[in-house]
Amino acid sequence: NIDVSGLVDAEGGLLDRVIFTDRQIYQQELRRVFAPSWLFLAHADQFHKPGDFFTTYMGEDPVIVTLDRNRRIRAFLNSCRHRGARVCRADHGTTRSFTCTYHGWAFDLEGKLVGVPNRDSYPDSFDTREWGLVEVPHVDEYRGLIFGTWNPDPVPLREALGGMAWYMDAMLDHDEEGTVVVGGVHKWVLEGNWKLAAEQFATDWYHVNMSHASALMTLSGKPPKDEIVHRTGRQYVDPGGHGAGFPVHPKNRFDARTVHEWMDYDALRERLGGARVEGPLTNGHATVFPNFSYLPVNGSIRVWHPKGPDRMEVWAWTIVDKSMPPEVREAQRLYNLRTFGPSGIFEQDDGENWSEVQAISHGFITNGVALNYQMGLGTEREDGRYPGRTSELYSDAAGRSFYARWRELMNTPAWHEEDQ
Ligand code: FES
Repeated sequence: NIDVSGLVDAEGGLLDRVIFTDRQIYQQELRRVFAPSWLFLAHADQFHKPGDFFTTYMGEDPVIVTLDRNRRIRAFLNSCRHRGARVCRADHGTTRSFTCTYHGWAFDLEGKLVGVPNRDSYPDSFDTREWGLVEVPHVDEYRGLIFGTWNPDPVPLREALGGMAWYMDAMLDHDEEGTVVVGGVHKWVLEGNWKLAAEQFATDWYHVNMSHASALMTLSGKPPKDEIVHRTGRQYVDPGGHGAGFPVHPKNRFDARTVHEWMDYDALRERLGGARVEGPLTNGHATVFPNFSYLPVNGSIRVWHPKGPDRMEVWAWTIVDKSMPPEVREAQRLYNLRTFGPSGIFEQDDGENWSEVQAISHGFITNGVALNYQMGLGTEREDGRYPGRTSELYSDAAGRSFYARWRELMNTPAWHEEDQ
C-alpha cells in the first residue's frame, strides 16, 4: 500500500500528478476509494416491473441492478460463480433469470443458482445454495438516485451525502413527483483519469469563460467579453469530498427556453427557498464523491467509470421532472444533448482538456511538476445563506476537499484488509 500523504497537500493546494498516472495508485483506489464508497448505480425510473435490469460498474467491477420479485432493487456482481463469465451481457432489459452463456448456469432475480446443466455430474457435496451470485450488500436510494456499496458496514447513504443533499434537492425535488429519465444512457470513452472529471464538476467554474468561450458565443451570438458572466456565485465544500459550484443569479436559470417558460419559479421558491432557486438551481455543477456528477439546469447526471489510470468511460442520463409535459421533456433532452451530450458543444471542450492533461502527464519531468489548487485558499466560511461551508464561485476549495477525502480513504485500510 502506498501512503499518499506526500502526494496530496490539500491544505496547501498542491497535488503531485503521479496520482493521475500511477497504476499501483489506481489499483489502491479501486480497493480503498471505490470499494468502500457509495457509488451511483442507476435511476429508479429504469425499473418498473420485476425482472427489469440494468448493467453497470462499481469501479471496474461489473454489476447487474435489478428489481426482484418482491419489487426490491438489488445489485449483484455480474460474474458467474463457475468460471467467471458475465451472466448478463445486455445493457438493460427484462428477464426472469440470468443465464450464463458459457456453460449455462442460471441465476434467478434473487441471485440464487437455479439451473446447472449436467447437474448429475457434480458430487453430492455440491450445494447450489453456496454458488449464488455475489450480492452488493447495501443498495439505497436518494430521491430516485440508486447507490450501492460493497462496504458491509457503511454509514447510511443519507448520512454519507450529508449537507450535499440540500444542494442535490435543487435538481431532484422540484415537486412531489420527482424525476424520470428521458432517452437512453449515453456512453463514451475519454483518455483521461476519472478524477480530472470528478474534481472539475466539484470545483471548477474557473475554466468556463476560457474553455467554453466559443460555445458561449455560439449559444448567445455575443462577443466573448459579454460572456464573462456569473462572477457572483458560491461553491459548496463538503467534508465528505462532495462539491457544487453555482452562479447566484436572479434570472438566468433554465437555459432551454421551453423549460424556462414552463418552470413555476414562485412554486419552486416556496418549496426550496429563494436561496436555492437563485443559487444551486442555476446552471452550476456538482460532484457526489467519488464519481457521480450532475448539472442541474441540463438535467445531466453522469458517472465517471474508471478504466485504468489513463482512461474513463462516461455514462450520462438526462433526467427531467416527471410532471413535465412531453414537449418540455423533449426540450430538456435536446438542450442537454446539444450542450453536454457526447457530441455536445460544452462536453467536447471538457473532454479535450482532460485528455490533453493526461496525454502529457507520463513524461518523466512533467510527472514530477506539482499542480496548483490554491484558488480561493482560506475563503471557505459559513455565510448564513447557504448551508455548510461555501467559498467563492471561482475557487478550488471543493477540489481541495475532494482530494482531502481521497487521501483519507487511500490511507485507511478498508474492511477487506482488516484480517490481513
Ligand atoms: Fe458460467 Fe461456466 S462460466 S456457466
